Amino acid sequence: MSSYPITHHTLDVAIIGAGGAGLRAAIAASEGGLRVGVISKVDPRRSHTMAAQGGINAALGTRGPDDWRWHMYDTVRGSDWLGDQDAIARLCEQAPRAITELADWGVPFTRDEHGQIYQRPYGGQTIEYGGDPAFRAAAAEDRTGQAIMQVMLKRAINRPITFYSEFFALDLIMSNDGACVGVLCLEIASGALHAFHAPLTIIATGGYGQVYASTTAANLCTGDGNAMVLRAGLPLQDMEFVQFHPTGLAGSGILITEGARGEGGYLRNALGERFLEKYAPNSMELASRDVIARAMIMEMRAGRAADGHLWLDLRHLPADIFTEKLPYITSLCETLMKLDPRKAMIPVVPTVHYSMGGIPANVQSQVIRVAADGAESTVHGLMAIGEAANNSCHGANRLGCNSLLDLVVFGKDAGDWAANNIKAESKIQTATSASMDKAIARVDGMMSAKATNSYNLRRTLQTTMSECAPIYRTGDDLARGANLLEQLAQEKLGTADKNCAWNIDLIHALETDNLLAQGRATMLAALKRTESRGAHAREDYPNRDDANWLKHSLVWVDGSATPRHSTRAVHLTAGIDEPSFAPEVRAY
Ligand code: FUM
Repeated sequence: MSSYPITHHTLDVAIIGAGGAGLRAAIAASEGGLRVGVISKVDPRRSHTMAAQGGINAALGTRGPDDWRWHMYDTVRGSDWLGDQDAIARLCEQAPRAITELADWGVPFTRDEHGQIYQRPYGGQTIEYGGDPAFRAAAAEDRTGQAIMQVMLKRAINRPITFYSEFFALDLIMSNDGACVGVLCLEIASGALHAFHAPLTIIATGGYGQVYASTTAANLCTGDGNAMVLRAGLPLQDMEFVQFHPTGLAGSGILITEGARGEGGYLRNALGERFLEKYAPNSMELASRDVIARAMIMEMRAGRAADGHLWLDLRHLPADIFTEKLPYITSLCETLMKLDPRKAMIPVVPTVHYSMGGIPANVQSQVIRVAADGAESTVHGLMAIGEAANNSCHGANRLGCNSLLDLVVFGKDAGDWAANNIKAESKIQTATSASMDKAIARVDGMMSAKATNSYNLRRTLQTTMSECAPIYRTGDDLARGANLLEQLAQEKLGTADKNCAWNIDLIHALETDNLLAQGRATMLAALKRTESRGAHAREDYPNRDDANWLKHSLVWVDGSATPRHSTRAVHLTAGIDEPSFAPEVRAY
C-alpha cells in the first residue's frame, strides 16, 4: 500500500451491512426509486441474520387472543423500563403487518393444521399485561433467520440494487459541518480504496459479540459501524447492556435456540432439579433471558453445575417436535456433540448473544448527536438500524424474537424515510475530506508500524471482557478491566503482512481496533452505572435505582484518549395514540 488511488462512486443511499436490516432498508429505498448500494464485508448469505433460529414476534393471535399493546407491555417490562417507549410502540404495532408481508413474499413459516403461521411461546411474552404465556414467536422451524434472509435476498437481487460484497467499511466520510456524506471502504480482494458518496448512509453492521471470549455471534460480528461512529466523534449508547443467552452449547458457545424451551424444554442442574423454581417460579423456563442467565450463575456458584455447565432437557418432548419444530438444533447436537437430544440432555452455559447498546438513534432511525451541554440534534445524512443501532426498543434487555422484528420494522422504515426524503440522482460532493485522510492514515499506520500482533491483542481484550464484565459485575473488576483496556489502547496495532490483495491480517487488525473501542465503551458504561437493571447486574449495587439511573448512558471513545461518559433521558411515553407503561417492580 504505497500509494492510494481511490475509486469514487455516487449513490443516493449507501447501506453498510447486508443482514436483515440492511436488506430490508435496501428493498424499501429501491422501491422508492433511489440508487442503492449495499456494502458488506461478506457475501450477504454469510450475514449473521442467517443464524437466527427461534422466530420473530408479532401479536398475530393465531393460537388465542393477542394484542400488540400486550406485546408492547412485555417489551417495556423486558427492557426493565429503560426502553424508549416511542420505539417500542412502533416495533410492536408494526409487527403483524411486517410478518404478514414476509409471509406474502414467500417466507416458509411453519404452519399449523389450519394453515395458519405457527407461533411458539418465548421468554417474557404474555397476554393481558403479564398474564399467561403468549404464543407470539412466528417460526420457520428453528431456521427463521435463514428463511427470511433467503426470501429478502432474492427480492433484493431482483431489484436494481448494487451489491459491493467483500468491501470492508473503514470510516464514515464526514463534511466539515458534521454531516455524513458517505463511507470509505477497502476492497478486500485487491486492497483498493473506494469512496461511496451519498446524501444518506445507513449503518446496519450488526453487533460486536466478538469482544467476548465466548459468544453465539459469528466471527464477523465486530461492530464495525459502531466503531466508525466513535471515530466520527459521536457517542455510543447503553453499551453496558450485553445479553447472555442462557443456552449456548457448552464448549463452543453455539446457540441452542430458546425455542427449545418454548416447545417445553427444561433447564436442570447437576442434581436434576428444575432450579428455576427458586428464581422465576411463575414463568420458569419462559422468564426473560437476563433473569435465567443470572439464575444459572447462582446455581453454578452454589456447586450445582455438572462439569462447569447446566443441562437443557428435551427428552420428554414428543418425537415430532424434533423433526418438525427443532430440526436444526437436533442435527447440531447430533453432528457436533454426537448427542441425541431425544435421549440425552444438552450441556449449556450462558453465552454472550446480543448487544443492546449501539448507535443512539431516534424512532426514525436518524443518528443522534449530543453536544457538551446535552443539546440533542440529528446527524445529517446518517441513520442506524438493526443491532448496530440503539433506538432503545430493547432497553436494558431484549426479549427473544424481538431482534428479527427490529430488523424488518426499522429496516423498512429507514428505507421508506430515504424514499420520502432523499432526491434521486441528487448532486453529490465527491471531493476527499479530512475524515478520509484520517481513515487512510489509520490503515497506513497499521500497514507500516512495527505493530502489536492483533491476534494476541484481541485474545487479551476478549479475556479481559469475559473476566471483568461478565453477567455479575463488581466495581473493582470493572475498574481493573477499564485500566487494562486503556493500556491496550496505547499499543500500536498492525499487521506483519504488507500485501494489498486479500490481506486478512489487516482486516483482523481493523476489526480488533473496532472491538477494542467498543470494549472500552462497554467497560466504562458498566463501571459508571451504579445500579442493577436488565442485563447489567452489579453485585455491589444489586437494586434498580430509578431515582438516579432511569436514563441512557453515552460514551465517547476518541483514539487513545480517556473515554468520556454522560447520560440522556429515556422516552417514557410513546405518543398520543399509544399506551405508555410506568416503571414497576419486575418479577417473572
Ligand atoms: O434463541 C433464539 O432462538 C434466539 C432468538 C433471538 O435472540 O431473538
